[in-house]
Amino acid sequence: MGYNQAVSLKIGVQIVEIIEKAPAKINLGLDVVGKRADGYHELEMVMTSVDLADHLTFTPLPQPQIQLESNLAFLPTDRKNHVYQAAELLMKKAGITTGVHIYIDKHIPVAAGLAGGSSDCAAALRGLNRLWQLGYSNEELAALGAEIGSDVPYCLYGNTAFVTGRGETVTPLPAFGPCWIILVKPRMGVSTGSVFKELNLATIPHPPVRDLERAVIAQDYAAILAAMGNSLEAVTIPRHPIIQKIKDRMMRYGADAALMSGSGPTVFALCKQHSRAQRVYNGLKGFCDEVHLVPALMTRD
Ligand code: C5P
Repeated sequence: MGYNQAVSLKIGVQIVEIIEKAPAKINLGLDVVGKRADGYHELEMVMTSVDLADHLTFTPLPQPQIQLESNLAFLPTDRKNHVYQAAELLMKKAGITTGVHIYIDKHIPVAAGLAGGSSDCAAALRGLNRLWQLGYSNEELAALGAEIGSDVPYCLYGNTAFVTGRGETVTPLPAFGPCWIILVKPRMGVSTGSVFKELNLATIPHPPVRDLERAVIAQDYAAILAAMGNSLEAVTIPRHPIIQKIKDRMMRYGADAALMSGSGPTVFALCKQHSRAQRVYNGLKGFCDEVHLVPALMTRD
């Protein structure tokens, strides 16, 4: 399935089940430009989707109730889950008087810097928009999603994009790839809020994200590698030195680049050649429990 492709099962005109794919993202670049009056940070990011995804299945319920279920026992199934918040927001806005059962089949590591929760939330907005035949545009869903989490608007567009503001301004870019991506998630989770809190704006590095944007538009792989960077490494790496060890190991095994995604702790490596990617994957497999080798997700629909 491509980025936004979904499956609907209909009996007559009645939709009885919808399945949505919710892919993970990585940040090829992330610069924290400043602090805003609302307490959030002004960001400039280049994001791209990878072919590691959760799947959400939506089944209508006759009673006005939101039921969440997941293959992961520790995932919250109440209002703490952004999927629940998405369903509640749409029900309220559209005056829905029935309910929904949502099953989240989780594969994206949690609290990892891969926007798994935000992508699930975006998939819920997309899926319920179709299930309840609400007719909201992607832009309207993105505006609703921004109320729930900063990465949700990007996740509604997916693919490769230049993202600014606190995450609400999304400008689509040409697809990044073809390329292989190795994702390595160390054991701990990282809270995004705590990383931004600890950030010292006077000392953080500022990767050349505008150059990165130009390199993605020009589809110049060498220039993309040269311009990659993430301001948030300055906080998360000193806290969790294993992140630097993973980066070093990836480069030793032949990665074209290695960088922390979002606020971490997941580190990703890029490899143009599959044989190199396989070597990096094998070299990291015994080092951390969660290691994935996936292609960049290049489809735009
Ligand atoms: O929007 P979201 O709930 O995903 O963000 C988590 C936390 O990260 C926020 O509470 C905020 O402290 C911080 N954040 C920020 N600037 C952003 C995005 C997130 O300071 N642009």
